[in-house]
Amino acid sequence: MLSIEDMAAFCRRKGFVYPSADIYGGIAGFWDFGHLGVGLKNAVKQELWRSFVLRREDIVGIDGSIITNPLVWKASGHLESFTDLLLPCKKCGHRTRADLFLQDKGISAEGMSPQQIAGLLKKHKLSCEKCGGAFGSAHAFNLMFSTAVGPASGFTAYLRPETAQSIFPNFALVMEHNRMKLPFGIAQLGKAFRNEISPRDFLFRSREFEQFELEFFVDPGQLHHDDLLKDALELEVQVLTAEMQREKQEHASLTIKQMHQQKLGNPWQLYWLAQFHQWFLLHGIRKENLRIREHLKDELAHYALSCFDIEYRFPFGWKEIHGNADRGAYDLKQHMQHAQSDLTVFQEERREKIIPLVASEPSQGIERALLAFLFDAYEDSKERGNVVLHLDSRLAPVQVAVFPLVNKLITDARQIAEHLRQHFTVFFDKSGSIGRRYARQDEIGTPYCITIDFDSLQKKDATIRDRDTTQQVRVKIAELPAVLRQLISQEIPFAELQK
Ligand code: GAP
Repeated sequence: MLSIEDMAAFCRRKGFVYPSADIYGGIAGFWDFGHLGVGLKNAVKQELWRSFVLRREDIVGIDGSIITNPLVWKASGHLESFTDLLLPCKKCGHRTRADLFLQDKGISAEGMSPQQIAGLLKKHKLSCEKCGGAFGSAHAFNLMFSTAVGPASGFTAYLRPETAQSIFPNFALVMEHNRMKLPFGIAQLGKAFRNEISPRDFLFRSREFEQFELEFFVDPGQLHHDDLLKDALELEVQVLTAEMQREKQEHASLTIKQMHQQKLGNPWQLYWLAQFHQWFLLHGIRKENLRIREHLKDELAHYALSCFDIEYRFPFGWKEIHGNADRGAYDLKQHMQHAQSDLTVFQEERREKIIPLVASEPSQGIERALLAFLFDAYEDSKERGNVVLHLDSRLAPVQVAVFPLVNKLITDARQIAEHLRQHFTVFFDKSGSIGRRYARQDEIGTPYCITIDFDSLQKKDATIRDRDTTQQVRVKIAELPAVLRQLISQEIPFAELQK
């Protein structure tokens, strides 16, 4: 099985992702994206924005600053509570994240206190992995990066650890300027920073990453409506409830209807979990590799009433790629109190002022989505003798490659490539055998390759080769843009074209 280290090596070899400033030895928890990596990342972001903002009437977007007034983090509770337990070695000073250290030993320590951690270390006779020394006591470590704003007498500010907090202080302005009515959502996509104690597993746990977050505001008097779940009720998902975890059971298959009947999540959480679950399936992730896991009470973030993750089956286990918390009125209330600002909404029908609830906060890490897409797409094909990356055509960093069969055809092929470049991301490759050129594109996930041969000049057509089946079809050159657009947007499958 492909390990996370193998994936990191593959991404580096193919130019997707490099350790940041690699020539200086890199820096733990930071990554640079190469040409293909940024193409893939942009495509993931574009698909999210298109699916959940542009195609919806009830969602609007913002782009907040990364550094904001530090009072925001006091109000949100992050200054006090956004911590992990750090476990220092008394002998060599090495620091590790307590729960992850124990988790690696097969011991669950989620949400435990420093005293409980000390008890577990003693019980299992555990010591520092680097030097064998004894551990000091675990203590809370705040994950926010701080920086000084302004010259000499500057003040301390923080790099945002979640994009969500740019949304709440802007709530009233955004609602008014876009003339939104409850229920509605405000979305944001951008960088977040966490000074992770133990960054690891390549892009999975890094110190700088991107999030797509959606705060969905609802009237507390209208937590459900009849049509809300109607399209999702029959959707079957793998679910690991809190109870199953306590009983040490495996996940089970449930429909959204059954989850609703069992009161697993509020209706808006179920609605958004179903939306994102579907989004992953529609973009190529296999159903058996996704599950929904309910958070245990003692692992809930300080703002959450309940939380469900969408997890992906990575080679290093089932891990969260998406979170969905019920934040209730926590954030708006906190900001109302700390900023002395009115963030209530006047509901005309009832002629009353209410504080909207964030009944559902879908939070999608871009790099974790990208990793899941890469793992799901990766095939080391024995038959072809090369890797084939079966990426969804909307996510592929190169959508079309154009090859002249022989050198004499370079000028004609280049003209065709230039024309296609106005519509798609195109790679032009004239070197090596055709087989080698196909293999190179298979490895980076290019869904379609166009080959220009001698017949092309006379018949004004070219072959389109499908990455997944290696089947080829001849298409008139004039029709290439329209045909490729339909294939890439998945309006028609390749098999249809063959007919
Ligand atoms: N606003 C809620 C929030 O931030 P979270 O579960 O802490 O919730 C949401 O993070 C998502 O952000 C995760 O599901 C994951 O995809 C991504 N994420 C969180 N920490 C990350 C890290 N250190 N590296 C990469 N992605 C991370």
